[in-house]
Amino acid sequence: MILDRWWPLLLAAGPLLALAASLLLPGFRGGVWSPSPQDVVRVMLAMARPRPGEHLVDLGCGDGRILLTAAREFDLHCTGFDMNPLWRWWVGWRSRRAGVADRVTVVTGDFFGADLAQADIVTAFLSQAACDRLAPMLRRQMRPGARVVTYQRTLPGWRPDAVQEVRPGKFVYLYRQSF
Ligand SMILES: C[S@@+](CC[C@H](N)C(=O)[O-])C[C@H]1O[C@@H](n2cnc3c(N)ncnc32)[C@H](O)[C@@H]1O
Repeated sequence: MILDRWWPLLLAAGPLLALAASLLLPGFRGGVWSPSPQDVVRVMLAMARPRPGEHLVDLGCGDGRILLTAAREFDLHCTGFDMNPLWRWWVGWRSRRAGVADRVTVVTGDFFGADLAQADIVTAFLSQAACDRLAPMLRRQMRPGARVVTYQRTLPGWRPDAVQEVRPGKFVYLYRQSF
């Protein structure tokens, strides 16, 4: 029987297909996983001028590098949203190892349903289509003076406070909610 020979392969293929789907499917809602380089993360955070104790939200947090850096180096309270459930487990493990588990939370779900009223800083490295959709939502929800930092994409209808080129042709944008 053909199945007798192929069942181990089929068994292995299931988890691999699930993993590939969990990484690729969010592409339809906001962008596939592609991490911001660590030096870019530092530029994004420095541009936001975080104050200890502020609340940072990363929309589509992936492996949590923005959350972990913000919690460790700037003493921020951090929340990440990601559709991929694996990231919640991974970031939980890494934040416990880094001793910042009390300041890092990951929510598995679609960030278009997030409540951002308490966020001081929102970070986003997403598709331009997702940023187009987020721009009015951020405007509606964020409190005056709160900052948004995006990598490679712009927020239509928002005027950047600062722009920094971090790679040839690739920029980090800082926006501030008006008073
Ligand atoms: C380009 S990665 C950015 C990861 C991380 N923020 C960074 O800068 O390294 C985009 C992430 O957003 C997640 N994502 C895309 N659309 C989403 C949505 N609508 N809700 C929640 N997460 C989403 C993907 O699963 C992916 O992990």
